[in-house]
Amino acid sequence: MRRTHSTTPRTTRVLGSLLLVAAAGVFTLGAAPAAPAARTAAPTPLDQVIPAPASVTHGGTPYRLTRATGVRVDDSAEVRRIGAYLAGILRPSTGYPLALTDHGTGGIRLHLAPGDFGAEGYRLHSDAGGVTITASAPAGLFHGVQTLRQLLPPAVEKKTAQPGPWQIAGGTVQDRPRYSYRGAMLDVSRHFLTVDQVKRYIDQLALYKLNELHLHLSDDQGWRIAIDSWPRLAAYGGSTEVGGGPGGYYTKAQYQEIVRYAASRYLEVVPEIDMPGHTNAALASYAELNCDGTAPPLYTGTKVGFSSLCVPKQVTYDFADDVIRELAALTPGRYLHIGGDEAHSTSHADYVAFMDRVQPIVAKYGKTVIGWHQLTGAHPVPGALAQYWGLDSTSAAEKDQVAKAARNGTGLILSPADRIYLDMKYTKDTRLGLDWAGLVEVRRSYDWNPGDYLPGAPASAVRGVEAPMWSETLKESADIEYMAFPRLPGAAELGWSPAATHDWDTYKVRLAAQAPRWDALGITYYRSPQVPWPTN
Ligand code: ACM
Repeated sequence: MRRTHSTTPRTTRVLGSLLLVAAAGVFTLGAAPAAPAARTAAPTPLDQVIPAPASVTHGGTPYRLTRATGVRVDDSAEVRRIGAYLAGILRPSTGYPLALTDHGTGGIRLHLAPGDFGAEGYRLHSDAGGVTITASAPAGLFHGVQTLRQLLPPAVEKKTAQPGPWQIAGGTVQDRPRYSYRGAMLDVSRHFLTVDQVKRYIDQLALYKLNELHLHLSDDQGWRIAIDSWPRLAAYGGSTEVGGGPGGYYTKAQYQEIVRYAASRYLEVVPEIDMPGHTNAALASYAELNCDGTAPPLYTGTKVGFSSLCVPKQVTYDFADDVIRELAALTPGRYLHIGGDEAHSTSHADYVAFMDRVQPIVAKYGKTVIGWHQLTGAHPVPGALAQYWGLDSTSAAEKDQVAKAARNGTGLILSPADRIYLDMKYTKDTRLGLDWAGLVEVRRSYDWNPGDYLPGAPASAVRGVEAPMWSETLKESADIEYMAFPRLPGAAELGWSPAATHDWDTYKVRLAAQAPRWDALGITYYRSPQVPWPTN
């Protein structure tokens, strides 16, 4: 059976998928859970991954990994590194040697070649002789490797030898992202997260082809990055967190370790210093940053909107220049996020004056400004991106302000809080999280279209989506995972997959099939009743 569904209308495509799935005997349809025996017997159909690929041609004999399977890589250090990453995932569970080689035939091949792949796209072809992933850039190979991972049985993620068999369905995946910005944010200010906790999340983001990690490095409750010219920011401003715990901060070496690790998973780190509000930790650390010259105490509660840098004082801009300069020097990525949300203790005139002075500092150090969408109420500099975090209920005037900026050239990152704020409770009974933006079950989180989400904003202004995770109630990796899973893969799919593949009824089946993989990876998740989870 061969089918290509890249351009077929949804009805045809869905029907085709149903036929394919039924023929493969892989999933039962509707609310009934998949039968475990059938799920392990047949290889996963090529379109049953998250994010949904742009185009799939099914057919041909599956490839079966054996003890003799090698990982063939181009003679390139970067491709070799991606090959080593893949082999590192596959070796413990398969028990196979999966030797890296740059010659021979068959096996799993990672190959760079010119082609219509874009910066992140790839082709994965599988038949009885082997699996070849081709891309024109290493990021594409890496994303193709994530597809390959998801096509193998979930037990492949385990750290001990498993029985297999390890088959990959025959056919071709041709894939590239809808948006170039596909992000997730961690708030390491309200509760500090260690380098290892951040790395663990990075690995989870990579599995779903996200490519931006936004770190919210400062807020009222904690300053989390060492700044040599203002050492008390981290040493004192980083010494607590919500609830009064010990907090913490990243040394520059630790921060660079996060940046390096993210880059090895093809994620760019976007550092955020939130200004002029959300600055109590800085104001507590340096009295001169306050208009009245008096430092407030450290803050361990969860209120917002009570702090502001002193806009008229020159020292404010000396501070901003030093912080942005040192942070830019730690940042190989393009962006520096300057916050700008909930500046309720800053007058509008002061807010505009502050943003007029601080945005050029970001440019001076070679970075592109990102701000929360309130930046559109000031004068976003050319090239700036605004991160929209409104709700369905946000006023038309506020939405219009953002849409107007988008029409005037400001790019948009969409993070609607009542859709993909991952810290929102799923239901009123969710133990963790907040509910100020509403209760956000899995379907609501998935079922919207970034392309036409904000009325009046041109689709071309949308650079992508980002799923923020605010940490007022979250301390442990298990807390973060419980809120991210199963919503994070939906955000990833909104960012990657063509709008034509968007369909809750087929998505929820693919989502359900991820659960055994999360179990194998030790990822805690919420068993939403909206999703037909396997029962084994
Ligand atoms: C925000 O949620 N205050 C950006």
